[in-house]
Amino acid sequence: MNDSLWSRVWRTLQDEGLGSFWLKSLDALGYRRLYLLRRSLAEPILDCPTMLPVAIDWLTIEDVQDYIVFRPDASGHDVTQQFLKGDRCLVARHEDRIVGAIWGSSESIHMKRSLGRDLPLAAGEAFQFDAYTLPEVRGMGIAPALSVAWLRHLRDEACVAATLLTVPWNVAALRSHAKAGYRVAAVVRYVRLGPWRYLFPLQQVAP
Ligand SMILES: CC(C)(COP(=O)(O)OP(=O)(O)OC[C@H]1O[C@@H](n2cnc3c(N)ncnc32)[C@H](O)[C@@H]1OP(=O)(O)O)[C@@H](O)C(=O)NCCC(=O)NCCS
Repeated sequence: MNDSLWSRVWRTLQDEGLGSFWLKSLDALGYRRLYLLRRSLAEPILDCPTMLPVAIDWLTIEDVQDYIVFRPDASGHDVTQQFLKGDRCLVARHEDRIVGAIWGSSESIHMKRSLGRDLPLAAGEAFQFDAYTLPEVRGMGIAPALSVAWLRHLRDEACVAATLLTVPWNVAALRSHAKAGYRVAAVVRYVRLGPWRYLFPLQQVAP
């Protein structure tokens, strides 16, 4: 173990506590736990006001370059492929610059990168993924406002519920999604060992 690993361990313990440290250690060893959050669309979808004025709209394939400026870690090719697959992206712009985005799918629970395959969605459900807000405008309610726009859109399409996945230690994500009405519905657990994956049966969480 080198110094930087020790300091990372110490920082995690100090900032997030023993529970989070333990989960991250298991994650590094190949055992991963994810929270499956769910939000029924039968419940009212209340406004989530933002502390920064933003305009929320769909990203179009012509805007991919703007998206790459917002997320330099994304590749234009991958984003275009996502569109071709049928995924949709809502963006929040402040003074014409994208400051936040969320993606959505009506096809599957996207887990190809982590689990090697996608999981099926229940009938009438949709999946939200890859929420991201620029670091300098986090904490201003942008991600919840995007979720609300996505949820209202789904309701208009006669969907019954929305789901998403997050790691248990992503407190900012849990808080943000809770504002839009998402609650932990189940725990997804799997083991990765090289190319081998095993998905445990879903653990339902009592409402
Ligand atoms: C998770 C994320 C999308 C939330 O976006 P957001 O627009 O900041 O959402 P909110 O304004 O509701 O803030 C959520 C929480 O972030 C935390 N937060 C507040 N200010 C923050 C800041 N300056 N920097 C980081 N986090 C902050 C708070 O815990 C806040 O909850 P609270 O308002 O109840 O105190 C954003 O933190 C992000 O892009 N993180 C990196 C990518 C990621 O983890 N995506 C989630 C995938 S499930």
